[in-house]
Amino acid sequence: MQLTPDLQKQLIETAIQVRQWSYAPYSKYRVGASLLTASGKIYDGANIENAVYPLGLCAERVTLFKAVSEGERDFTAMVIATENAGMPCGSCRQVMAEFGLTMRVIIVDATGKIHHESTVADLLPGAFTPKDLI
Ligand code: THU
Repeated sequence: MQLTPDLQKQLIETAIQVRQWSYAPYSKYRVGASLLTASGKIYDGANIENAVYPLGLCAERVTLFKAVSEGERDFTAMVIATENAGMPCGSCRQVMAEFGLTMRVIIVDATGKIHHESTVADLLPGAFTPKDLI
């Protein structure tokens, strides 16, 4: 599915909305993500922390794993929303790269203002991908 201006708007609104479901009692840093699949579906997710700190999971991976666990493999775009338009962590960039380097990644703040827009390839130059294993 092509990323039309309408879909981009929908993705941004979704990523902002889903921050309300963030479970971040420790960091208080609420992250929301939305994901457009090639099939045209939109998935969303928020970060989930844990009293055993390392067990928490970023919003980007929650969202990607929700989609992948429902059979999705091809992704067009991901929007990530935080208060201050923080960038995705290295682990999330690697998980994004597993499913392709061309996905667009758009970083917005809590008002929906776009602060950064690129592709997974830009975010993770020289990525180790499934192709490296065969
Ligand atoms: N976090 C994300 O959800 N995505 C990122 O890319 C960076 C960090 C979460 C993890 C943790 O719950 C909180 O933000 C503070 O690191």
